[in-house]
Amino acid sequence: MSDLKNDRFLKALMRQPVDRTPVWMMRQAGRYLPEYRAVRSQAGDFMSLCKNTELACEVTLQPLERYEMDAAILFSDILTIPDAMGLGLYFETGEGPKFRKPVRTAADIEGLQVINTASDLAYVTDAVSMIRRELNGRVPLIGFSGSPWTLATYMIEGQSSRDFARAKTMLYTQPELMHQLLDKLALSVIDYLNAQIRAGAQAVQIFDTWGGALSHAAYAEFSLAYMQKIVAGLIRHYDGRDVPVILFTKGGGQWLEAMADTGCQALGLDWSTDIAAAKRRVGDRVALQGNMDPAVLRADAATIEHQVDAILAGFGGGPGHVFNLGHGITPDIDPDNVKVFIDAVHKFSKKY
Ligand code: CP3
Repeated sequence: MSDLKNDRFLKALMRQPVDRTPVWMMRQAGRYLPEYRAVRSQAGDFMSLCKNTELACEVTLQPLERYEMDAAILFSDILTIPDAMGLGLYFETGEGPKFRKPVRTAADIEGLQVINTASDLAYVTDAVSMIRRELNGRVPLIGFSGSPWTLATYMIEGQSSRDFARAKTMLYTQPELMHQLLDKLALSVIDYLNAQIRAGAQAVQIFDTWGGALSHAAYAEFSLAYMQKIVAGLIRHYDGRDVPVILFTKGGGQWLEAMADTGCQALGLDWSTDIAAAKRRVGDRVALQGNMDPAVLRADAATIEHQVDAILAGFGGGPGHVFNLGHGITPDIDPDNVKVFIDAVHKFSKKY
């Protein structure tokens, strides 16, 4: 078992007391950092960066060199799974992800194989092992995957989408086909996250970025049910520690009770939910992670500090808060403003 010098993040996820609120940021290794842009151009493109173990490790650690964050997150992407399934992922500059072979028909879905991480995605677990070694117990490492529904939207649309026209058409006209796809994805995610845990990930987060685009009933049937299946299939205790699971459904504020029922340890909140209300609803069952609007980071220092303090005050006293943004940091943010943000969490959280 490794010695963790800073276990605030893991403790808070398990709703144990900590000296101050731990903080990390979704997309903390990314384009707002000039040193990230330098390494990405050295790698050539984004996927080459993900597949280069040493460079993926290097960019994972970059934000920790600048800021006092309480966790590192594996540098990779959620779309590695569909890429490993043979869909041919590529990124066109400024346009986001694309697939050469999207899945559209019953034959496409029947032809998909559940991934085997050890043989298909060894570059991901290699990166996890190397990052753990390099971190040397400084802070815990978070592994992650997309939710089956979120992955399915990219696989069916073939790219990012505003309305998910093709994915929702399949959901409403061929629901059994959609379930077949989601089943294969859930089994793949279980294998993928368990492999990350065995390689050294000390907590895992499931990114359900597009769950909030579903109707109330469709969310339960096509997104939450599969996340529940994943939570039930994950290794929950490894290397002498609990391995907490964080579920993040963007736009999922109305479903917090149902999300907590999956047996996860923590819920990621986007900024549209009032954290005080969320705590009243589920705070005795799960930890809460979030939830400052990333747009606040475009404001002046006093505004950033005020917004941080308001969220800390909203959560109030007691265990179970991990500070984060409500979604990923955007590339236009000034790195100095991130320092103001992280330092403000440290400074103000001691009083709660
Ligand atoms: O948080 C971290 O620092 C870890 C790394 C991470 C990335 N993607 C790196 C990345 C994580 C956790 C993700 C998850 C991810 N990827 C999600 C779910 C999280 C979310 O934001 O809701 C989604 C939907 C994707 C798919 C994806 N990957 C998109 C839509 C894009 C384009 C985004 C954009 O802003 O252009 C990516 C590319 C991507 N993934 C980048 C990074 C740093 C930017 C790529 C680059 O360097 O050009």
